[in-house]
Amino acid sequence: MSLLNGRIAIVSGAGSGLGRATSLSFAKEGAEVALLGRRESKLQETAALIKQTTGREALIIPTDITQEEQIQSAVQQVVDRWGTIHVLLNNAAVLEPGSVLELTSEDWHAQVATNLTGPFLLTRAVLPAMRKSKYGRIINITSGLSWNGAGGYAAYSAAKAGLESLTRTLADEEHEHGILVNLYNPGTLRTEMHATGKDPAVVTPDLNRLASLPVGGPTGTIVSYG
Ligand SMILES: NC(=O)c1ccc[n+]([C@@H]2O[C@H](COP(=O)([O-])OP(=O)(O)OC[C@H]3O[C@@H](n4cnc5c(N)ncnc54)[C@H](OP(=O)(O)O)[C@@H]3O)[C@@H](O)[C@H]2O)c1
Repeated sequence: MSLLNGRIAIVSGAGSGLGRATSLSFAKEGAEVALLGRRESKLQETAALIKQTTGREALIIPTDITQEEQIQSAVQQVVDRWGTIHVLLNNAAVLEPGSVLELTSEDWHAQVATNLTGPFLLTRAVLPAMRKSKYGRIINITSGLSWNGAGGYAAYSAAKAGLESLTRTLADEEHEHGILVNLYNPGTLRTEMHATGKDPAVVTPDLNRLASLPVGGPTGTIVSYG
């Protein structure tokens, strides 16, 4: 039996890198997958890969996760299509260099908007459906830069540290509603964001496991690759 049979999943940043690999991996495990990201052409490529590999029709929803109305509309489209949402992967992020001295407030706000406020907005939008069915598995993608003194990446590392704190708060708030919320640190991946590292497909078994945790499973934890 596949790990995610009958599950409905939303993946942000599904048009490239880890988001694409995990969307495919969720679909292979039996999930219906909604693909969110800004570039529609990249989401179409992911959907074509899913169709070719699994025969499934993914739902393409061009969405900027910094825009609250777009998020509400995306979540509504998923509920209209499949009735509920079981899994949310908060994966979309941007990485721009800049020390505290160098960063303009615009640069700071832009990275915090995508890497911290976006996951907050998306999570808040899916919670009513998850609470209704008393089931949810939320995975937030973090990075070692949140804690290892990432000089030159001040906004990214602070936003990821905020996401880690938000994850633990949310785990505390939602466990009684059957919703488990965990962090995943993939280590370095070779993607649009980072020129060198592992193929993202290497880490997707970990994400399949976090997306299919049993009732009463761990929540508020951080899982790292390897
Ligand atoms: N690569 C690494 O070494 C590494 C290491 C540790 C953690 N991570 C984390 O892994 C996750 C995936 O990153 P990746 O390496 O796969 O990089 P990636 O290929 O650049 O993927 C990031 C995705 O986020 C989407 N995105 C960015 N801003 C968005 C917005 N405002 N609204 C919606 N989607 C947005 C991008 O698509 P659009 O531009 O089309 O919107 C893109 O598909 C991120 O959370 C990253 O922080 C990566």
